[in-house]
Amino acid sequence: MKKKLTAALLAALMLSACGSEIGDTALTVTLPETVTATTTAAPETTTVPPTTTTEESTTSETTTTTEETTTTTEETTTTTTTTTSATTTTTTTTTAATTTTTKATLPPAPRTAPEAARFMVSTGVSTTTVSWDAAEGADGYVVLLRRRSDGDWEEVADTTALSVTVNEGQNRNYSYCVQSYMLKDGERVFSEDKQVSSFPYLTVKNGITYVDGLLIVNKTYALPQDYAPGLTKETQAAFTEMQAGAAKDGLSIWICSGFRSYDYQNTLYWSYVNRDGSQWSADRYSARAGHSEHQSGLAIDVNQASRYFNGSPVALWLAANCWKYGFIIRYPEGKEDITGYNYESWHCRYVGKEKAKMITESGLTVEEYYGLTSVYS
Ligand code: DAL
Ligand code: ZN
Repeated sequence: MKKKLTAALLAALMLSACGSEIGDTALTVTLPETVTATTTAAPETTTVPPTTTTEESTTSETTTTTEETTTTTEETTTTTTTTTSATTTTTTTTTAATTTTTKATLPPAPRTAPEAARFMVSTGVSTTTVSWDAAEGADGYVVLLRRRSDGDWEEVADTTALSVTVNEGQNRNYSYCVQSYMLKDGERVFSEDKQVSSFPYLTVKNGITYVDGLLIVNKTYALPQDYAPGLTKETQAAFTEMQAGAAKDGLSIWICSGFRSYDYQNTLYWSYVNRDGSQWSADRYSARAGHSEHQSGLAIDVNQASRYFNGSPVALWLAANCWKYGFIIRYPEGKEDITGYNYESWHCRYVGKEKAKMITESGLTVEEYYGLTSVYS
């Protein structure tokens, strides 16, 4: 069944969107039947602020059909499988066209020692931790670092432990490698296979990109169209904890926009394009379908998604405290050219407490922290 939305109904939908103030202009956009606004209602105890501009409506469950434009989100990625261990661990490193891919050329190693499995590299601001599972029968491990794709490998650790932390912060061009060895007649016999990483240390699983275990979605990295986890339980639990923390400080917070489906984001984005008259304008505050963090179920807009929220007591509280609950302010002020989006004081991304602390302390965006781009291809 098809229905045309009235201007008033459309205005309600427009109010439900993210990142822009709503004008009075009457619009004639039709919406797909599948559109559902997934929102979390404010708790009963919350006080809804005076109605100014809100981007996310809790009432837009409108249905209409459309022959609406479809967003084309072409991902141009180069996939290089870098490492396969003897176990089931397969690491696939994917880099966008603009990202340097380092193909490892390792020092020759004699056979026999088993390789270490589940190699992980975790970067901080000034240190990097490399960890791995034990290789059966190994007497020790050597960790190597290469600073340039055409450079030499240098040894940074020789250990019997299963992880090392080196005083090297995140750097997109660095590569790490771990080789296990066995002692035979006092000589070291190294594993033939090695675990190699390069930065950004990306893995792609079921079409979803992760760096250092963190799901990445921005203008460069998209989510699959059918990815629809809803608001994840970790995100909901972290928000509930944050809500209690805010309440202790006398502030009421609620989620005004949580999970969004691909179709909903598509409708939202194109409604902004139609309103503003260009993708260039909408791209500054609204993600194209496939590219919104809201589709990950890990992002929430708190209280009011509009610029009028900036500088409010709750916005200031979020900026100072959300990391304690595992959230980061994903699109900070002054970083628009890096994140690709205007400042959004209300958009919190759940990354877990450890990463939230590290990223917040660094003063860096996710893109800077992990050396990623955020640009449409
Ligand atoms: N407003 C953010 C960028 C989104 O549309 O996901
Ligand atoms: Zn948001």
